[in-house]
Amino acid sequence: MKKSTVLLVGITALASGSALAASVDKIDWAKVPTSTVTLFYPGQSSYEWVRGSTHPGAALVKTNTACIMCHAGKEKAMGNKLVKAGPLEPMPVKGKNGSIDLKVQVAYDTQNAFFRFQWKTLNPFPGSEHQYLRFDGKEWKVYGYPKLDKVVQDGTQPGIYEDRMTIMIDDGKVPGFAQQGCWLTCHDGERDMQKVASKDDAAANALLAAIKKKDVRKYLPASRDNPSDWKTGKSLDEIAKLKAAGGFVDLMQWRAHRSNPVGMADDGYVLEYRNSDDGKNMFGGNADKETHMPKFMWDEKRVGYKSITADKLRQGEHFLIREQNAVPFDPKAGWKEGDMIPDYITSREDAKGSAADNNAVGSWKNGMWTVVLVRPLNLTNDDDKALKVGGVYNVGFAVHDDNITTRGHHVSFVKTLGIGAKADIQATKLK
Ligand code: HEC
Repeated sequence: MKKSTVLLVGITALASGSALAASVDKIDWAKVPTSTVTLFYPGQSSYEWVRGSTHPGAALVKTNTACIMCHAGKEKAMGNKLVKAGPLEPMPVKGKNGSIDLKVQVAYDTQNAFFRFQWKTLNPFPGSEHQYLRFDGKEWKVYGYPKLDKVVQDGTQPGIYEDRMTIMIDDGKVPGFAQQGCWLTCHDGERDMQKVASKDDAAANALLAAIKKKDVRKYLPASRDNPSDWKTGKSLDEIAKLKAAGGFVDLMQWRAHRSNPVGMADDGYVLEYRNSDDGKNMFGGNADKETHMPKFMWDEKRVGYKSITADKLRQGEHFLIREQNAVPFDPKAGWKEGDMIPDYITSREDAKGSAADNNAVGSWKNGMWTVVLVRPLNLTNDDDKALKVGGVYNVGFAVHDDNITTRGHHVSFVKTLGIGAKADIQATKLK
C-alpha cells in the first residue's frame, strides 16, 4: 500500500468517529506562523542528575532556576554530545542524530485546538511498524525491540518500534514545570535510566503495589516524600488530593502504529506514574496472556494474507485494525516458522472516555512526518488539562524516532503556548 493510504485511513477513521476531517482539511496552514523548536537527545540526564554533583548547574537547579538560563540555544551541541557514549549514555545507538528540528504550528476554532508538527525522520521510511509476534515452529514470541535494548544492540533482535510525537502540558499548577519542564518527570529508577528499579524492588513498593504497576515510570516530585527517591511514594489519598488540585501534567502521545491508523492520539497524565486517562485506549496487546498466541490475525479476504514474514518489513502498512482488517486467530491455520502477526491491535470503537479525547491525522512523505493533533477545548475530565481561550500553558515536546522508546527520544526545554494570549508559541484563531 502507498503512503497516501495512511492519510486516507486516518481521515476515514476521523470522519466516522467525530466528523472532524473537514475542519482539519480546511485549515490553511500557510497562514499559521511556524515555530521551530530544537529537540535534543537527553541521555540519562534525570531529575536527580541535574541536581547532582557532576552537573555544574546543580545549585541553581535546586533553587528552581530555569534550564534555559544557562542552556538557551545550546540544544544542538548538547544533543550531539549526549548521544555519544559517555557518563550519560551507557548504551549509545549507532548512527543516531543528536537533535531534531521540530516545526510547530497551533490553531484553534470555537471547539478545538489543532497542533501541527513536522519533523524529518532519520530513516528513509516511516517508523510505522511496531513489535510482532513471531512463530518459531512451536511458540509465538515477541519479535523486534527498541534500540536501547541489549538484544538489539548485540544483534539478537532487529530494532522495531513505532515513531511517536508527545506533548506534555502544565497549566501553571505544577511547581517548577515552567522552569524545568519534562525533567521534573524523569527519574533514576525508571526504565533505561540509571539505577533501574529491579522487579523485586518494584514489587515490594507500597505505592506501585497499590496502583498495580510493576515498574517505575515518569512521576512528578510532589508524588514522593523524597522526590529523588521513587521508593518514597505518598499515600493514594494524598495523591488523589494532588490530582484534584490540578497537580498533574497532561501527556498526549501520537503513535505511528498504535493510534495513527485509527485517526487518534492517546491521552494520559503524569502524577505518581505515567497513567492513561480514564476509559480505554485505542490500542491493546494482541498476545493471549496465558498461551502467548495472537488473539487476532489479518483477515485474508480483505488484505490478502493472514500474517507476514520478515522480508516484508518496511514494505507497506502493517496495521491490525479490529473493525477493518482483523479476524480471530485460528491456531490451526497451518502456521510456519517465521510467520509474524502484530503484537498490538488498534480499535477506534474500543477507545472510550477521557482516554479517547484526541484525534490526529498523520502522514509521512519525502522523509518527513506531518501530524495534526486535534484536542477539544474546555475539557472537563479530572485527568485532563483543559485548553481554554485566553490560557497560557507550559509545554514540553518529544519525538521518538528510529525504533526507540523510553529516554531514547529527542526533547525540548519548556516553552509557553498561548491560546488567544501572548506566549512563545501563539495559536492562530481560525475564521
Ligand atoms: C546555572 C546554570 C545552569 C542551569 C540552571 C542548568 N545547567 Fe545544565 N549545565 C550547566 C553547565 C555549565 C554545564 C556544563 C556544560 C559543558 O560542559 O559544556 C551543564 C551541563 C548540562 C548537561 C550535560 C551536557 C553536556 O554538555 O555535558 C545537561 C544534560 C544539562 N546541563 C541539563 C540541564 C537541565 C535539564 C537543566 C534544567 C533542569 C539545567 N541543565 C540547568 C549549567 C546549568
